[in-house]
Amino acid sequence: MDSLVMPREQLGVCAEGNLHSVYLMFNANDGVESQLRPCVANVAQYIYELADQYADSAFNGFVAIGANYWDSLYPGRRPSQLKPFPAMHADNRDAPAHEYDLFVHLRCDRYDILHLVANEVCQMFEDLVELVDEERGFQFMDTRDLTGFVDGTENPKGRHRQDVALVGDEDEYFRGGSYIHVQKFAHNLSKWNRLPQKKQEDIIGRTKIDNIEYASEDKPLTSHIKRVNLKDADGKSMEILRQSMPYGSMKEQGLMFISVCRNSVHFEKMLSSMVHGDGEGNHDHLMHFTQALTGSAFFAPSLDFMEREAE
Ligand code: HEM
Repeated sequence: MDSLVMPREQLGVCAEGNLHSVYLMFNANDGVESQLRPCVANVAQYIYELADQYADSAFNGFVAIGANYWDSLYPGRRPSQLKPFPAMHADNRDAPAHEYDLFVHLRCDRYDILHLVANEVCQMFEDLVELVDEERGFQFMDTRDLTGFVDGTENPKGRHRQDVALVGDEDEYFRGGSYIHVQKFAHNLSKWNRLPQKKQEDIIGRTKIDNIEYASEDKPLTSHIKRVNLKDADGKSMEILRQSMPYGSMKEQGLMFISVCRNSVHFEKMLSSMVHGDGEGNHDHLMHFTQALTGSAFFAPSLDFMEREAE
């Protein structure tokens, strides 16, 4: 447990799952930083207050600053582990980087409220930023990914979500903030759906319908959960909190993968284990059925940090 009272975190970082989401990716116009600093703080505060107003629909969200834009917006101090997205490539497995200046993540159990708030946020940012990408996510069946497998089962639970996701005493100035990694994965569902169910299950490392984890000795070294279930030098589990949701249309669909974590190392190690494998030729076979189209690194500071820096 971290010692001092935690600054107010942005509620969307650790929130439980929702039915709908909107992802807004912005780039900032040149030379607007002194106006953008208070604006970013206002948008984050607005989202924070709406979480109360729309509590019945579990509204939440956060604003995050791109790794490549951080020093322009907040020159002087930088979260100690904030760095550009760790792009990776091996054979035909690709995890490209595609950075944005700002990321606004909104989630709610009512789609109309999300649309309303997304409009309001764009209005608040008007003339300062350009909206360069937008995606909308949805809960699919009983929280399944479009591959048909339940996603999020082994996510940290309860108070442990905060422990995993929020920076603590290790970087005093940025306590209550979080490192965010986003990858938009486009699935090749026709290829995936041609696989027999047992082969799909071997690739994930869990059963499909009942979502039961394979026994350790039955997990192929190339299964997804084998590749991402990592331990550090002290034998402690490397954890992230996943806030992913399915997105898309008949033209393109997949998973908006979102990792939130108190460090940037865990995500990078997991991704490397998926793409490069274990050094013995075992990479993640899920990568044969999905393609990462983007890869972006952000930091979602605490509300107190943004308020302080706005002055
Ligand atoms: C677990 C799907 C990408 C990290 C899982 C599970 C599924 C899944 C179905 C098992 C259920 C659960 O515990 O949630 C996917 C899909 C992905 C994807 C469809 C992309 C197309 C990633 C990436 C990372 C990651 C990029 C990290 C770099 C994890 C972790 C677990 C997990 C840490 C929990 C493992 C455990 O402790 O058992 N994923 N995932 N996933 N995934 Fe992914």
